[in-house]
Amino acid sequence: MTPPLGDIAHIGHTQLFTPDLDASVAFCTDFLGLTVNGQVGDSVYLRTFDDYEHHSLVLTARDQPGIGRLALRTSSEEALLRRVEAVEDAGGPGHWIEDEPGIGKLYITTDADGHEHALYWESEHYQPPDELKAALKNQPQAKPNRGVGVRRLDHVNFLAADVLANTEFQERLLGARSTEQVRLDTGRIAARWLTYTDKSYDVVYTEDWTGSQGRLHHIAFATDTREDILRAADLAIDTGVFIETGPHKHAIQQTFFLYVYEPGGNRIELCNPLTRLVLAPDWPLVNWSEAERAKGQAWGLKTIHSFHTHGTPPIQT
Ligand SMILES: [Fe+2]
Repeated sequence: MTPPLGDIAHIGHTQLFTPDLDASVAFCTDFLGLTVNGQVGDSVYLRTFDDYEHHSLVLTARDQPGIGRLALRTSSEEALLRRVEAVEDAGGPGHWIEDEPGIGKLYITTDADGHEHALYWESEHYQPPDELKAALKNQPQAKPNRGVGVRRLDHVNFLAADVLANTEFQERLLGARSTEQVRLDTGRIAARWLTYTDKSYDVVYTEDWTGSQGRLHHIAFATDTREDILRAADLAIDTGVFIETGPHKHAIQQTFFLYVYEPGGNRIELCNPLTRLVLAPDWPLVNWSEAERAKGQAWGLKTIHSFHTHGTPPIQT
C-alpha cells in the first residue's frame, strides 16, 4: 500500500458541541451506554467499552450544537509527518496543539468546508480501574450493563457546501478511498462515502441544502447486531429519546440504522454495518442515480424530509 493510502489508521474520536452539557452526557451514558472518562473545563470525555484509547467522544458546552474536531489516528509517527507535510505543501491551514487527555500532539487542519480535522499518533492505551475490568484480557473494558451498549464510533457524516472539494482533501491529503456516491441528473455529486480502512466508510459528505459550511449531519455508533438496533428503538420510546427515522436498512452501504436526536440537538445514528467490508484494493466507485435515490431505503422506506433539512448548528432560513 503506497502512501497516502494507509497513513490514516482509523477514526479516533470526535467532538460534539451541545447547549445542554448535562443532558447530553446523560444521554450518552444512560442511552448509548458510554462511560465518562474525565472532564476538563467544559469538555467531558466519553468512551465505549471497546475503545482501546482514552475516549472516542468529547462533549463540549457551547451555545449551539454542532461538530468540533474529528481526530484521526495515523498508522505511525512517520505517517503523521507525511500527512502534515502534504497538508502544508497544499497550503495548509495547520498547527500543532496538545490539549486532550490520553492523546499526544495533534496536528489541526480543516477540510475544504472548514470542519476541523486533527491528526495524531501518540495515544495512551486505556487501563480500566478494577471495577471496569473485563473478564477477558482482549477487551479494554467490561460491557456496561445499561443502555444500548454501543461498541465503537463508526463514522461521521458532514454536511458540506461542495462535496467534491472535500472529497479531494480526504483522498489527496489523507489517503481516503471513495466507495459510493450519489450523482444528481445535473452531474453534481450530492453525497460521497469514503474510507481510510477496510470498513466500507468512515466519513461521509452530504450536500448542505442551505449552502452553508462546516455543519454536521450526524455521527454514528456501531452496535454488535441488528437486534441491538431494534432494542435501542424500544429503549428510546421508553426513555423519551426522539426517533427521527428507522429502524430500517439503507440502500447505500446497506447499513441497518436508527436515527435519534440527542438533547443538545445533534443527530446520532445507531448503526450495524459490521459484516460489510470493502477488501478490494481496486473497488469501483458505486454510483447511485437521482432516480435510484428517490426509491428510498433498501426495503422501501421513503427518506424522511427532515433528513434533508436538519443539521447542526441549525440555520435560520
Ligand atoms: Fe450514517
